[in-house]
Amino acid sequence: MIPRETVDQIIETAQIEEVVGEFVNLKKKGANLWGLCPFHNEKTPSFSVAPAKGIYKCFGCGEGGNSVNFIMAHEAMSYPEALRYLAKRYNIEVEEEEMTPEMEAAVSERESQYVVMAYAESYFVEQLWESEAGKAIGLSYFKERGFDEATIRKFGLGYSPESWEAFTKTALENGYKKEFLVKTGLSKDKNDRLYDGYRGRVIFPIHNLSGRPIGFGGRTLKTDKKVPKYINTPECEIYNKRKVLYGLYFAKKSIVAEDACMLVEGYTDVISMHQAGFENVVASSGTSLTLDQIRLISRYTQNITILYDGDTAGIKASFRGIDLILEQGLNVRVVMFPDGEDPDSFVRSHTREEASDFIASNAKDFIVFKTDLLYAETAGDPIKKAALVHDIVDTIALIPDEIKRSLYIRECSDLMQIPEKALLSELNKARRKLLKKRENKAPVEGPPPPAFDAGFPSGDAVPALPDGVSPDELPPDFFDPDRAVGEDPNDCSHQERDMVRLLLQYCHKTFKLEQPSEDPKGKPEKVEVMVIDFILGELEHDNIQLENPIYQRIVEELDELDKKHSDEEKEFNAEAAFLNHSDQEVCKACVDLLSSKYELHDWERKGIFVDPEDRKIKKAVMGSVYSYKAKKVGQMIATNERELKAAFTDEKEFSEIEKLLETKVQLNNIKKELAKPGGRVILR
Ligand code: CTP
Ligand code: MN
Repeated sequence: MIPRETVDQIIETAQIEEVVGEFVNLKKKGANLWGLCPFHNEKTPSFSVAPAKGIYKCFGCGEGGNSVNFIMAHEAMSYPEALRYLAKRYNIEVEEEEMTPEMEAAVSERESQYVVMAYAESYFVEQLWESEAGKAIGLSYFKERGFDEATIRKFGLGYSPESWEAFTKTALENGYKKEFLVKTGLSKDKNDRLYDGYRGRVIFPIHNLSGRPIGFGGRTLKTDKKVPKYINTPECEIYNKRKVLYGLYFAKKSIVAEDACMLVEGYTDVISMHQAGFENVVASSGTSLTLDQIRLISRYTQNITILYDGDTAGIKASFRGIDLILEQGLNVRVVMFPDGEDPDSFVRSHTREEASDFIASNAKDFIVFKTDLLYAETAGDPIKKAALVHDIVDTIALIPDEIKRSLYIRECSDLMQIPEKALLSELNKARRKLLKKRENKAPVEGPPPPAFDAGFPSGDAVPALPDGVSPDELPPDFFDPDRAVGEDPNDCSHQERDMVRLLLQYCHKTFKLEQPSEDPKGKPEKVEVMVIDFILGELEHDNIQLENPIYQRIVEELDELDKKHSDEEKEFNAEAAFLNHSDQEVCKACVDLLSSKYELHDWERKGIFVDPEDRKIKKAVMGSVYSYKAKKVGQMIATNERELKAAFTDEKEFSEIEKLLETKVQLNNIKKELAKPGGRVILR
């Protein structure tokens, strides 16, 4: 583990403009630098670097982070890899940290499993290339399949001899412990006798993101239907099949370069495609795609192309899984291979150009593909057609981006010959249902999609534009579409976001607050309060937990950091602490919070002066906290109304109804108070 101080030192030393500047041509404009985004294709620069904050942010594709994140995204590296890369560049010595006994035990458990896996990989490789049986059976099998030697070596393919204990015996003789051999499935334990797990099979090692083997797929060479075709590594500390994508280690660079990832079914498809020159290919190895795997891909690209062999039943079975991908906001395309062909066989019987043309000309947008495929089956059957419309609309409803949703509605209205208006009203119903379902399914996973933030102090739903700026001058996504829709009037995610942003940005700044004097006849007194004390105080007072778990975590950690620092009478920079947080999710959420879009329009250069926010801290902070509370009260009123309705229909005791009515009155009073300017209100 790299100690926190070293991490901080690396982040401090690695100037964001230098790190990014090595890959992107940057020009200074105002306080920031601008260039063409390396993460998506564009002709005019929307990629900005803010040296003062140490972050980059693309206003085109939303990619953003600190210098470590940049290296991770650009070079397709893991967090520790990126840290070591930067350390090396800036000559910072990285010594690994001493660990507690528990950490050591956990690490040594994992490390022991890694070590056994690495040994096994080298054993199987050696058997394949050196042993007579390996050459005669394993190597010739791979060659027959069309894999050339370089490919076989690159993917670490191997052979496990047809013997009960050849591997196990050698491994034990070489000092590998029985415990780890069994845990990793390399050896099986039967009545205290060990035997080999992959007897007489060819071996496909599965690598993690840094290229270490963490599992194996062993394919039988027998055609006997009773013998399982593949034996795979059991779940253990280092191998979880739901979190692994086969081939990702070899594919990640190409996925970033192509800004697309192709998804196939099996080991052999990945390898054949790779050999044919398509390197951005991964497989989910025999499971349907999981959320973890989708998140893994989305670190490198937002574009997934799924390559299907021509089996319609299998394709239909996969539709549910694809809904998961759409829900994550990724773009999904599909290619269907001719009957009886899979990607493996196709690339072997065609040239690279033919395969590439085939993929390019047959790739269909998923929703169009699904509509086409199912629509053909509804011919002349209005009931089936109606069911299909619901099915398709439910899928479209999952897409987070409103613009995309409406484009799909238009497209599908053409395909199914249904008026756009009818589909739109179905879509609205489906969205409402979906939001309800999510509401009941707390906690929400991950941060919300990056939303609109013009850097304005107000917590109002839509900020007023500065004088002299017409809405036409703003980029199309200036108004967050999800906000304008107003699907749930009590949704307070924007208010939460605004409040946490102010908290981080103006943490230790102060403003003057009027408080009633202790003497009942005296004039109100002005007291100085810190932003952090005010906001955290208000939240604590009303016992409010933020709905977004990441924001809640930020608030809690900030509180702790602040307490620790004030005990030691040290200052700290809240913005920097969270922008460089070791948890990538927190880090990303903060970058999204703290990069404000209005810098993009260069208003200062145009001579349009925007009042700097810190002059209006008081207004901003209080406005934010109160509009947040107003939303919360709105939620409470809605709940109260629901409870009241239920109490009436269920003919509950009068005392219970009375209590609910009392609450109703109280809540309405609070609502009125909150609407008055400047009044402090406590919710409970
Ligand atoms: N798989 C598995 N266990 C099986 C069958 C399949 O784990 N009994 C997984 C493997 O990850 C395999 C993928 O599902 O790669 C796809 O299966 P299949 O197409 O049958 O295997 P291929 O790897 O393509 O093998 P081959 O082309 O040699 O038949
Ligand atoms: Mn196959």
